Amino acid sequence: MFQITHNPIEASNLTNTVVALTFSKAKLASVAAKQVKDISKDVEKAVKNSRFTGGLKQTHHVDALGHKTMDGLLLVGMGDEKEATEDTFRTAGIAAGKALAAKGVAEATFIAEGTKSVDEKTAAVAFAEGVALAIYRFDDYRTNLTANDKGKFKKLTVLADDKSVTKEFTQLKGLMEGSELARDLVNHPANVCTPSYMAETAKKLKKIGLDVKIMGKKELKKLGMDMMLSVAEGAAEEAKLIVLKWNGGKKGDKYKALVGKGVTFDSGGYNIKVAMMEYMKSDMAGSAAVMGTMCALAKRKSKVNVIGVIGAVENMISATATRPSDIVKSYKGLTVEVNNTDAEGRLVLGDALAWVIDKEKPSEVVDIATLTGAISIALGNRYAGLFSNNDTLASKLLAAGESVGEPVWRMPTDKAYHAMLKSEYADLSNIGGRTAGSCTAAAFLEEFVGETPWAHVDIAGVAMAGKVFGASNSNGLDGANGFGVRLFVRYLEN
Ligand code: BES
Ligand code: MN
Ligand code: ZN
Repeated sequence: MFQITHNPIEASNLTNTVVALTFSKAKLASVAAKQVKDISKDVEKAVKNSRFTGGLKQTHHVDALGHKTMDGLLLVGMGDEKEATEDTFRTAGIAAGKALAAKGVAEATFIAEGTKSVDEKTAAVAFAEGVALAIYRFDDYRTNLTANDKGKFKKLTVLADDKSVTKEFTQLKGLMEGSELARDLVNHPANVCTPSYMAETAKKLKKIGLDVKIMGKKELKKLGMDMMLSVAEGAAEEAKLIVLKWNGGKKGDKYKALVGKGVTFDSGGYNIKVAMMEYMKSDMAGSAAVMGTMCALAKRKSKVNVIGVIGAVENMISATATRPSDIVKSYKGLTVEVNNTDAEGRLVLGDALAWVIDKEKPSEVVDIATLTGAISIALGNRYAGLFSNNDTLASKLLAAGESVGEPVWRMPTDKAYHAMLKSEYADLSNIGGRTAGSCTAAAFLEEFVGETPWAHVDIAGVAMAGKVFGASNSNGLDGANGFGVRLFVRYLEN
């Protein structure tokens, strides 16, 4: 994460590449217009000879030839001013960040301003967040980058009237460190990011004030979490249950629980995947979101008590791997017939959910998982699927998702989907029929929840994008985007 600082809105502070908001019809936002009025003729000319209209996600660079202090001016489209929301500023920030990265500048100065419905501070922070999301790169495995190929952006200066943005930028840094941790974990290949790597990464978070406990196969066996363990039976690495606690709230306040699917690679098991297996290094994106959220809460010293639980396993094939039709016993006591070894995430989550509810009695629990391909058929790469047994919790998540640009769309939980999980030999089958795959998966999870307010976020369609991985996420970010971290931090802090 680069440095972000605040300066007052003054002509002398218009240095480096200056970033100015522009609304529809290429109309410069009012504060920006005043600041760059010396070169308004250059701006007009440059816009006239371009396709730039001020539409959202557009950018246009204007050479500030001869300006006393600026190197250049980047116009960033916002669309219709009346429609601008907090997330419009973030989306524009992502476009700006991409343009700055492509240009290769090291520093930029953003002239912040709000609209009638978004105050200056909210606008400044959301825009800076967008820039940070776009500037992130994952170069860990590139050995032949020249200095000129590497990321160059070092510092964003935000010109704003409200001095209190400084405090918000510190908090933003904490949020982005959590987000970048999540993105790194997902981007790492599965031969590096294994269950034990996840556990080691969690342990490193002790130094920022989190309580971290790891349970391996022996302890999980003792607890009776055979349903989760069955997924790891074919793998060389044993399963790990990773438990992170952040006690930033009042002593005695109940925990809110987050539970993440951490399948570090999903081959499908004996029901081996026939397509897109290379996508399945991202099958721990839910647990990455939980780890990233816990990291961000600690860095932000958030005033909440949160417990994060990660079920880390690898779904592989070997002589000891689970067979289709095997019956396993869950922590809750229900027996489950594993009729498809590729429906493994729910086996991990079912035990992790039941365990955290039983042990910690959280006031509410939210799980997050790349659970079903069907959710991307239903919702594409914009919305994650939201399933919940509680309208209050659901509406909190819907609102948080909308404001941070990680939107969730409510899907049904209904007895009918539970009925589809009948097994011929056990209490439950781990698959439903051919239809409603995301709904039957959610219903399976709900079997392990009871009365606790619960929500399930299916991020299989939104967690990852790129050439190998199909259509890019609609937020415009490549590779892993950390979906869930910003949603959860907003939900937990509100
Ligand atoms: N990890 C997959 C879901 C997935 C698919 C995530 C595409 C990201 C992109 C999950 O474990 C899975 O394989 N689900 C099956 C369930 C089926 C066997 C009932 C699916 O979606 O096909
Ligand atoms: Mn699977
Ligand atoms: Zn999976």
